[in-house]
Amino acid sequence: MIVVATAIAACQWWPSSPPSWTGDEVAVLKSLWLASLPELSPDPSNAVADEPAAAEFGRKLFFDMRLSANGGISCATCHQAERGFTDGLQKAQAIGTTKRHTPSIVGTAYSPWQFWDGRRDSQWSQALAPLEDPNEHGTNRAQVVALVAGDNDYRASYESLFGKLPDLNDADTFALNTAFANVGKAIAAFERTIMPTTSRFDEYVAAVVDRDADRQSELFSDDEALGLRLFIGAANCTQCHNGPLFTNFEFHNTAVISFPGDVPDKARVSGVIEVLADEFNCFSPYSDDPLRHCSELEFARTGAGLIGAFKTPSLRNLAAPFMHQGQLTTLADVLEHYNNAPDAMIGHNEAKPLGLSKRELRQIEAFLTTLEAPVAESPAATQIESKQAD
Ligand code: HEC
Ligand code: HEC
Repeated sequence: MIVVATAIAACQWWPSSPPSWTGDEVAVLKSLWLASLPELSPDPSNAVADEPAAAEFGRKLFFDMRLSANGGISCATCHQAERGFTDGLQKAQAIGTTKRHTPSIVGTAYSPWQFWDGRRDSQWSQALAPLEDPNEHGTNRAQVVALVAGDNDYRASYESLFGKLPDLNDADTFALNTAFANVGKAIAAFERTIMPTTSRFDEYVAAVVDRDADRQSELFSDDEALGLRLFIGAANCTQCHNGPLFTNFEFHNTAVISFPGDVPDKARVSGVIEVLADEFNCFSPYSDDPLRHCSELEFARTGAGLIGAFKTPSLRNLAAPFMHQGQLTTLADVLEHYNNAPDAMIGHNEAKPLGLSKRELRQIEAFLTTLEAPVAESPAATQIESKQAD
């Protein structure tokens, strides 16, 4: 009797024992490892992209609420450092309510496309959009340039990086747009410094690479390790969430439907038309690259196949709520969504139903939480506060 019971217990226990990784699996784990993140490539469209003085200027601009119609909104209103550079809301809120959820900006300097629909092709051109969006900062380019010109510290930073500011009383459109674009280039230089840090998952991969089994079980529970195996295997998550940032930076339709009452979001199908027409895109006269290397834009996929396709988000530092409108409240909801793979309201769902058990879904969820890592404190926040206290 006792023997039988032990055998049954062993059988039940066996499938949940922590995996010993095959060579192929180790290769996949290494491809997801933060240590595999290549150095950020230069951005020839932004001459100051890697200038520390530009990043410092950009940091101040990022936190400066004077860059808004009501003096109360900065980039950090929605991209809050302490929340992984998002805001915890479904749709973002500033002067008005936007139609989508605030994504994190950690590591987005690696992305060839910005926004859920990729309607901008650089971080500097992206940064200009919220400033003039009536629901976000609600200001305009002339006011932004006037603010920089009227603040001695900003004017000095600007002029040492970009040369003389235009005379606002008789600046032509090109001069004004150039100065506005330069503000975006400084903000982008700051954003290039916002990078993910080592998570428990990354330490685990290091232990796998070192074949240190004790350290592996110190770092991961059995469920977390099994969740990881499902993530890279049966659940097929790495089809889209791959590479050290857990995103392929591509656009996919995964049938996450808009809130009732909202028009269905066409996403990339219109985003690609917008980026091709954007006055600040890679082909524009505001790019600093004399050679106009714009292969992303030149070869961008267009057409009806992209309807309802959103940019794959990174899975590092996940923060609720999830998806492009924050439609899903918990990670359990997200996994349920993938397990069912419902039909898309527009276009078709690229993800297939998974047929995983509740327990397996919980294991994937457990794994996802190992991707949390501290986000760097932002000294600029304190600087701005002390400026106001003065
Ligand atoms: C009202 C809140 C709000 C403010 C203010 C705001 N953002 Fe955003 N940000 C968003 C939302 C919402 C999106 C996604 C919008 C979309 O995709 O249509 C976004 C997208 C982004 C992205 C793209 C990330 C990605 O993965 O594609 C970057 C980068 C970014 N914002 C930086 C900034 C900067 C820089 C500023 C200040 C100049 C700023 N944001 C101001 C809410 C905000
Ligand atoms: C076909 C590509 C594809 C596959 C496969 C896929 N994802 Fe996604 N994932 C996406 C896209 C695209 C989004 C954003 C969708 C949206 O907002 O409408 C997303 C969003 C998410 C989010 C929300 C992130 C956030 O910050 O809002 C999580 C979590 C997630 N996926 C986890 C997974 C897991 C776990 C799997 C495997 C079970 C998986 N994904 C499989 C493409 C994919």
